[in-house]
Amino acid sequence: MTEFVLPNDTNTLNNLMGGKLMHWMDIVSAISAQKHSNRIVVTASVDNVSFGKPIQLGNVVTLNAKVTRAFSSSMEVHIKVEAEDIPSGKKFASNSAFFTFVAVDQSGRPIDVPEAVPETDEEKELYAGALRRRQLRLVLAGRMEPDEATELKSIFNFEKE
Ligand SMILES: CC(C)(COP(=O)(O)OP(=O)(O)OC[C@H]1O[C@@H](n2cnc3c(N)ncnc32)[C@H](O)[C@@H]1OP(=O)(O)O)[C@@H](O)C(=O)NCCC(=O)NCCS
Repeated sequence: MTEFVLPNDTNTLNNLMGGKLMHWMDIVSAISAQKHSNRIVVTASVDNVSFGKPIQLGNVVTLNAKVTRAFSSSMEVHIKVEAEDIPSGKKFASNSAFFTFVAVDQSGRPIDVPEAVPETDEEKELYAGALRRRQLRLVLAGRMEPDEATELKSIFNFEKE
């Protein structure tokens, strides 16, 4: 998805508002999850988003979103954001994030989605890490007991004596 930073998208320093960028990130990742599942999707969670370098008025912003892994009804989507200054043509990676979407039926009830099969090395790496990130976000959301987070236990060695 490509966007153009216009005056109404910026703060008083003429930089893109963080909320505007998150809005675009939400849209591009929802489209990606919808295309994968062929269902209506809702945003279930947003992992941490940080803004390292300001995107300026007049920059062209390119957002790339990809489903990294599908679970039962939920899908993790990775979004990469790049900004480009015109006319210098200079591009820089602005930020990236993981959003989680849940496919729902017409009544808003979660519904199963097809598996996502990774192909490239990068996709395989993102797929493998998705289980760990899912457990972390579910623990933080109070939807999983830390004791059940097997992937996190293996990293942090949470095993009880
Ligand atoms: C997301 C939602 C559909 C989950 O419904 P629910 O009845 O709690 O369903 P379940 O507990 O069965 O969970 C369904 C899936 O959502 C996932 N999920 C629920 N909360 C989550 C969270 N905070 N982060 C990540 N995944 C989450 C579960 O892990 C489960 O995934 P799985 O089926 O792949 O295992 C429901 O909470 C909802 O509608 N939330 C509001 C969504 C919304 O309006 N978003 C826009 C914000 S304004």
